[in-house]
Amino acid sequence: MVKKAVLPVAGFGSRMLPASKSIPKEMLPIVDRPAIEYVVKEAVRAGIKEIILVSHSAKTAIEDYFDTQFELEHQLEAKGKDALLAEVRDTLPADVTVISVRQHRALGLGHAVACAAPVVGNEPFAVLLPDVLVDCGGQQEDLGAMVERYHARGAAQIMVEEVPEARVDQYGIVALKGDVPNPGESAPMTAVVEKPAVEDAPSRLSVVGRYVLPGEIMGILAQTLPGSGNEIQLTDAIATLIERAPVEAYAMRGQTFDCGNKAGYLQAILHFAARHPELGEQAKAMMAVELGEAGTS
Ligand code: G1P
Repeated sequence: MVKKAVLPVAGFGSRMLPASKSIPKEMLPIVDRPAIEYVVKEAVRAGIKEIILVSHSAKTAIEDYFDTQFELEHQLEAKGKDALLAEVRDTLPADVTVISVRQHRALGLGHAVACAAPVVGNEPFAVLLPDVLVDCGGQQEDLGAMVERYHARGAAQIMVEEVPEARVDQYGIVALKGDVPNPGESAPMTAVVEKPAVEDAPSRLSVVGRYVLPGEIMGILAQTLPGSGNEIQLTDAIATLIERAPVEAYAMRGQTFDCGNKAGYLQAILHFAARHPELGEQAKAMMAVELGEAGTS
């Protein structure tokens, strides 16, 4: 059963500077909660019970966020602020554990995932890249569907979406055995290559930041040499896994937001603000005013 998820959060977030200078980029808010909470909740909804943060000494605010803040809770309780108290307590369900391991050196995503090996053991696990937020708009969520397909088909699941040709050199790009699967379905992968040049890209299907992998990948990562950007790449370990075990590309249904850069972060704020249960209507009215003003100025 897939019960563990690895979230690599050790990166400095240089594309979000100066905001990320003294707080982790994962703690920057999307409306009223930090971006990392959306990702952790997505994992929890997919059945994950152990969140494994691969972290750095400058990023302890993330662990603290998912810990109990006893004094604060006590104060809210004493003042009868029950709704706020419920929200503060809701950051993590009681049956979910957050474990933190350190990545001592920034040697790449594959290296970060390998740092979680002692906690993952030989079990299958999910990887969620916290820069990427996914909104499935009420339909079955992609990560949950990937976990189901992992169990049903015994094949690793790698979430993919199409990107314009001009951007294939920014992602892991996959090659498939047959046709591109319909959204919500998966198909056997024959290769995956990290950040290929346009002319070498096997397709326009990019790896999006959600993976369900067998424990076996940890042994492969331990043997994986630095690749693209001179970093140990998760993509290269998956390419090796393809030679040994079934690996499938899962075509996502939802919409992604890359909060690792300023434009994607801003888009996520607008998207989630417009859909916020309490603030949505106000947010849309504000956006309309801004649009009007931008149109006349
Ligand atoms: C990482 C992965 C890449 C994947 C991307 C998705 O790259 O190495 O395969 O397509 O995340 O966001 P990064 O964005 O860390 O350079």
